[in-house]
Amino acid sequence: MIGIILAGGNGTRLRPITNVTNKHLLPVYNKPMIYYPVEFHKSLGITEVLLTTGKEFGGEFTNLLGDGSRFGINLTYKVQEEALGIAHALGLAENIAKGHSMAVILGDNLFFLSNEETKSIRREVEEFARTPEGAVIFLKRVSDPERFGVAEVDENGRVMGIEEKPKNPKSNYAVTGLYLYDSTVFEKIRRLKPSGRGELELTDVNNAYLLEGKLKSHLLEGEWTDAGTFDSLHRANSLAKDIQGPSV
Ligand code: G1P
Repeated sequence: MIGIILAGGNGTRLRPITNVTNKHLLPVYNKPMIYYPVEFHKSLGITEVLLTTGKEFGGEFTNLLGDGSRFGINLTYKVQEEALGIAHALGLAENIAKGHSMAVILGDNLFFLSNEETKSIRREVEEFARTPEGAVIFLKRVSDPERFGVAEVDENGRVMGIEEKPKNPKSNYAVTGLYLYDSTVFEKIRRLKPSGRGELELTDVNNAYLLEGKLKSHLLEGEWTDAGTFDSLHRANSLAKDIQGPSV
């Protein structure tokens, strides 16, 4: 199982604080945002991790994180020349991750889960790594689903479809930025067309798995937030302070 952190993008929703830095290097309470996905991978038992980011601030990431040994992981890097979307960034991992299963985390997603829930996801990740087939998405009930990928779910909890940032969401289940994929993800990425915002979207990848009948979902209980807007970044800081407290 290879861990992948997608930490590119222009951070346009956080201008001007992202004018001279990458969003994922901004502080979230007492540490840089990027520490959270790194530590989350580690907590799931994933120690081979690839980080993709744009070339502009690539040096800052290597300065900050080094080879990952300080976090108990082995970290490598891949440069995304242009911000063409998160699915495009994942596609760049192909030569490293080909033939492996993957746990993909969006670099601006923070998960504050109980030890018990972390352990249960860790077991799910281990099981997926043993017999990788299809994809798993992790859902969280939110009050503002229109900001996210939204999963329509039937009465048995089965996903019927996913819409990216719908104006009229069919549910309040947001698709969080944690995904498990088998290695067919790369073929699916190659078939994608850019979305309305001109990017290759993981939502389209997930819908391709759904069409094959190979998409599973898992509903999260703990706290989760993205940190890509002023309000969500603020919330991330509060959650980190309240739930996690100082750790470094
Ligand atoms: C991305 C995904 C979206 C997902 C969200 C989670 O949105 O496209 O499906 O719900 O991350 O944070 P973005 O933050 O790139 O707008």
